[in-house]
Amino acid sequence: MTTDPGGVIAIYPGSFDPLTNGHVDIIERGARLFDRIIVGVLINLEKSPLFTVPERVSIARSVFRDYSNVEVDTFDGLLVDYARRKHATVIVRGLRAISDFEYEMQMALMNRRLNADVETVFMMPAEPYTYLSSRLVKEVVALGGTVTGLVPRVVEERLREKKLARETLKA
Ligand code: PNS
Repeated sequence: MTTDPGGVIAIYPGSFDPLTNGHVDIIERGARLFDRIIVGVLINLEKSPLFTVPERVSIARSVFRDYSNVEVDTFDGLLVDYARRKHATVIVRGLRAISDFEYEMQMALMNRRLNADVETVFMMPAEPYTYLSSRLVKEVVALGGTVTGLVPRVVEERLREKKLARETLKA
């Protein structure tokens, strides 16, 4: 494994639809551990997302505007190809519970097979976020619940705006 002269670069890939405090926690840990961490927002045309990719990028950039070693970017295609283009040698993934393990292990081993120079590093989020997922956040908000403390303030505001816009359209 070769190290970039700029230090160890890590990629934290995901859908981030939306960014939760669990993601923020992992990015902060990564920023302490690696010289640079790139939050890679997947451009996935198959899913029907709540937030567009530019919206997700703008949210993450505003949350991490004061972090000099956190970059927010988008990618499509194979993650390992993107890692190679960015000279990243680490893929960061969060592990919340045993239920995450099987899918994460499959991805990590497939990525290793595709490019053995990139190592997947798993990190556990702080305990209050171990049950948290973007899917649950969207469901709770859609059904009128509150997600204060589970997502960054900007995400809470954008979720409220989306919900209002949808309700106005339905009315
Ligand atoms: O937040 P998510 O949806 O769990 O993130 C999944 C992600 C983006 C990490 C995964 O879908 C991915 O890496 N997609 C890129 C395509 C790819 O490289 N597929 C092979 C991975 S084994």
